[in-house]
Amino acid sequence: MKSRFCIANWKMKLSVKESISLADKLRSQLNFSPLAEVVVCPSFPVLSAVGEVIAGSEIKLGAQNASWLVEGSLTGEVSPLMLKELGVKYVIIGHSERRQYLAESDEMINKKVEQAVLNELIPILCVGETAEERDEGRAETVIKKQLTSALAGLTVRGRLLVAYEPVWAIGTGKPVSVDEVEKMVDFIYRQLPDWPLWVLYGGSVDAENIDSFASSNKIHGVLVGGASLSAEEFIKIIKAFN
Ligand code: PGA
Repeated sequence: MKSRFCIANWKMKLSVKESISLADKLRSQLNFSPLAEVVVCPSFPVLSAVGEVIAGSEIKLGAQNASWLVEGSLTGEVSPLMLKELGVKYVIIGHSERRQYLAESDEMINKKVEQAVLNELIPILCVGETAEERDEGRAETVIKKQLTSALAGLTVRGRLLVAYEPVWAIGTGKPVSVDEVEKMVDFIYRQLPDWPLWVLYGGSVDAENIDSFASSNKIHGVLVGGASLSAEEFIKIIKAFN
């Protein structure tokens, strides 16, 4: 398995047609062997279609969320087992937008991580402090709590990705400096010495600033929102790891 990751989080930004067209462009423009694992995370309704477009290529399929149950009476939720059946390999869990706007709790996130691992999906666990928490000097305390609660009681230890995504850096065009990210990455590894994990960074990563993150030997990749919606720009981000 590769040890660098370029993960595209398309959020709820594209239509069905646009998603398929972006997947198609990425597939045709990725005409080199990427050193990083390339993952695209489309919305649920297009997972299947995007999966078909990227089948047999270097691009892997990821989902933006998964339920904490494999099956049950949970209207509107999607089982990790169904995702696996569709060829999904990765799943974003605990993104700050879900924590903030959809009341996703630490307890839900904990169960989601467990179910993902049990169903052989690789969780991309998102953690990050708000601007207020940072200003109050509580960033490390918040990250530590998010990590320990997300992984509490887990008996299975599958491969895990942790994306450090400070809330104040997401979608703002103001990424965190590499030095600061590296400090938090070290902190995260120290909290989880027994886990087979890699730590990534996310928050306003784009083709202009990617070189600084890609050249760090501590940051194992990036989770990209806005800049992943253009095939040309995302390809530049992937190339920075080669
Ligand atoms: P951004 O989003 O790259 O647009 O800041 C990152 C994310 O939310 O994962």
